Amino acid sequence: MTQTEHKPEVHDTPLVPIDKIVSLCKRRGFVYPNSEIYGGVSGIYDFGPMGVELRNNIRRYWWWSMVQNHDNVLGIEGAIITHPRVWEASGHIENFVDKLVDCKKCKRRFRVDHLEPANLEQHLCPVCGGELTAEPRVFNLLMETYLGVVEGERMKTYLRGEACQDIYLDYDNVLKSSRIQIPFGICQIGKAFRNEVTPGNFLFRQREFEQWDLQFFVHPDEMQKWFDYWKEFRYNWYMGILNHKDRIRFREHAPDELAHYAKQAYDIEYQTILGWQEWEGIHWRQDWDLSRHSQYSGQDLSYTDPNTKERYMPWIVETSGGVDRTFLNLLLDAYEEEPDPAGKEPRTVLRLNPMLAPVKVAVLPLQKNKEELVTTAKDIHKKLQRLMVSQYDDIQNIGRRYRRQDEIGTPYCVTIDFQTLDDQTVTVRERDRMTQERIAISELPMYLLQRVSWQ
Ligand code: GAP
Repeated sequence: MTQTEHKPEVHDTPLVPIDKIVSLCKRRGFVYPNSEIYGGVSGIYDFGPMGVELRNNIRRYWWWSMVQNHDNVLGIEGAIITHPRVWEASGHIENFVDKLVDCKKCKRRFRVDHLEPANLEQHLCPVCGGELTAEPRVFNLLMETYLGVVEGERMKTYLRGEACQDIYLDYDNVLKSSRIQIPFGICQIGKAFRNEVTPGNFLFRQREFEQWDLQFFVHPDEMQKWFDYWKEFRYNWYMGILNHKDRIRFREHAPDELAHYAKQAYDIEYQTILGWQEWEGIHWRQDWDLSRHSQYSGQDLSYTDPNTKERYMPWIVETSGGVDRTFLNLLLDAYEEEPDPAGKEPRTVLRLNPMLAPVKVAVLPLQKNKEELVTTAKDIHKKLQRLMVSQYDDIQNIGRRYRRQDEIGTPYCVTIDFQTLDDQTVTVRERDRMTQERIAISELPMYLLQRVSWQ
């Protein structure tokens, strides 16, 4: 089964307020504010029991699609701390800055690139109409750290401001330690750190976050072909895991946004209540990164084609996206409050793609005071646990248990009732349509595996 075969019941629902997701995440153990008992730290979050399962599934699916399913792509995991010269070569020490202005009245702080031109020209606060400071202040986003313990001998360096630099640093090692040839790619998923001056909107703009990158190395003559290939591949990848397929689009960068070496760049954007926002960037990096690291390190990173003997500096197609933005966008995409026909509380349901859902199946004995039902349910749960994330639940009535599972996006609930004891069948209830099917216990593992896996 492939992920595209999942066809959820998609309703034309309004865009979900971020607050609803923040509250669900806290209540059901997806995301907590970091250091909350000390008052929290702006732009830093922890992931709870449900969050870590969802994140792992998102990462694993990306890794499978990008690395394991491409013969010409390999993976690495680089360090968070690198030699400080890396950030000189990359241009981050010089250029990785945000310009800020402050409102003299309400004391709010704005990034200059986030203000409307009229507000900027007239120095007008977009929130309270007060006066903005005229001269923007400049802040570097790199987070400093120090290596060594002896004062005076400590070396200042940085937590990586973008994860992809490790790929350029390891490019030559990967080439020499594997039998891969250009065109090929290197992937990595890893944390990045930015002293964002205006962190906010929950996971959207954080100070510690996770990126996934592909850097694909090509001959200059083949740049356009591979740029087009990865651009389409990444777009279709996101389309495959979204319910609301009208909420994703490409935005081509205008000429004045492009880096001097880039012929083209596209953002994949997702529409939330905040408007259209960047999710992933597809970048034409030419030979900028390898040339700069060759120059700053003194190591020649050019490539010699083993067949033609042509020597050249490889060009790079980059696809760089955020694990946290994927996590947030998927929750926004999946969240729905469905009115209850009996007029009770609305049903909150996360219509997550089953292969990404944190819990795949819940096993529920109809009554907890009937020993045979409980024993059979626990036995089924133990067997399923070897294959997928399964939860056993016998607290409260069956309707409430279904609701609890709907809220965390569990695609299947298996109920063990009195008929089970007679004919060894169970009821499988599906989350989106709430249909119920009678399945033999012996067929249950295969039935579920076919619906919750991607391979
Ligand atoms: N190597 C290219 C690069 O880092 P970027 O556009 O700065 O490009 C790539 O970042 C992706 O990382 C973004 O598309 C976004 O999904 C994610 N991202 C960037 N800054 C973020 C932040 N402060 N919080 C959460 N995710 C962020």
